[in-house]
Amino acid sequence: MLVLGIETTCDETSAAVVERRPDGSAAILSNVIRSQIAEHAPFGGVVPEIAARAHVEQLDRIIALALEKAGRPLAAIDAVAAAAGPGLIGGVIVGLTTAKAIALVANKPLIAVNHLEAHALSPRLTQATPFPYCLFLASGGHTQVVAVRGVGDYRRLGTTRDDAIGEAFDKTAKLLGLPYPGGPQVEARARRGHAQRFALPRPMARQRNADFSLSGLKTAVRLEAERAAPLSEQDVDDLCAAFQDAVADIVADRLRMGLALFRAQHGPPRALVAAGGVAANGAIRRVLDAVARADGVALIVPPPELCTDNGAMIAWAGAERLAAGLTDALDASPRARWSLDETRRAG
Ligand code: KG4
Ligand code: ZN
Repeated sequence: MLVLGIETTCDETSAAVVERRPDGSAAILSNVIRSQIAEHAPFGGVVPEIAARAHVEQLDRIIALALEKAGRPLAAIDAVAAAAGPGLIGGVIVGLTTAKAIALVANKPLIAVNHLEAHALSPRLTQATPFPYCLFLASGGHTQVVAVRGVGDYRRLGTTRDDAIGEAFDKTAKLLGLPYPGGPQVEARARRGHAQRFALPRPMARQRNADFSLSGLKTAVRLEAERAAPLSEQDVDDLCAAFQDAVADIVADRLRMGLALFRAQHGPPRALVAAGGVAANGAIRRVLDAVARADGVALIVPPPELCTDNGAMIAWAGAERLAAGLTDALDASPRARWSLDETRRAG
């Protein structure tokens, strides 16, 4: 089964062709990703209008390239999948409308994929990951702990009450004068810093839920930075180290609680899976490892190019849904907000 996948919900324009074999394993035949970081960097963050326009300009070429690299004509594709949300609505409309046009012209089924579902199923692209498993999704737009019980069967255990973790990294970087995207910058500077120099809060610590709150931490960094101004290079290094240390502690505490909730509500998880750009952070990887080890559960982190936004995960979620007999009508709506867990409000 061959699926073309299209991703345009944020600042990556991507298309991919993925094969799902009868045994449920995957082969990525192509995964073309064009990042818009250069367009957004001057503004210190993603600008929705610029993102939508860049998707319009690039998507056709990127789809053609994905088919060419896969060595398969459109006629050989079994279905067209696009991320139909959640995300920046302009970009979502571009990707979903393009997918609908291809599906209509080529007479293929359409699959309107929830972007969060694609992250949730992404570990299954590269290794057999049996259900149920505990997903920790941490990107620039999302922070969620989810019980993944099967294809189309998700229960949200926790989410952020304000900023996403990646967003907190980006905002902290910005207030310290570091370029966008801030995560890798903060990590690099933290390596040279002394975390103990600043006492930062650990919001939500030990609360009996798996929710996050990051905005108070970001404010605490701002107050310390104002107090220490003008900032030397060492001050920036130390603030980055203290911030990253706090985030790592928060992630450890919230995931311990998330895994406990998982066990209580869904039985033992088969794995802890981490996805999203923040999973690239070495300090966070170390706490994920420690939490998984202490819990006696395997840690699975997809390779970096599949952790961040990409078309292959959309194609794969489409393939998993197609295999389960789930397709969508051509009037499927683009959605700026779309909860993975329909039993909970969007967020
Ligand atoms: O998943 P992703 O590529 O895009 C979406 O947001 O959907 O995640 C990007 C986010 C950004 O906020 C970026 O600063 C953060 O992931 N990030 C990191 C690191 N690399 C990327 N955060 C902390 N440490 C990193 N090494
Ligand atoms: Zn994403």
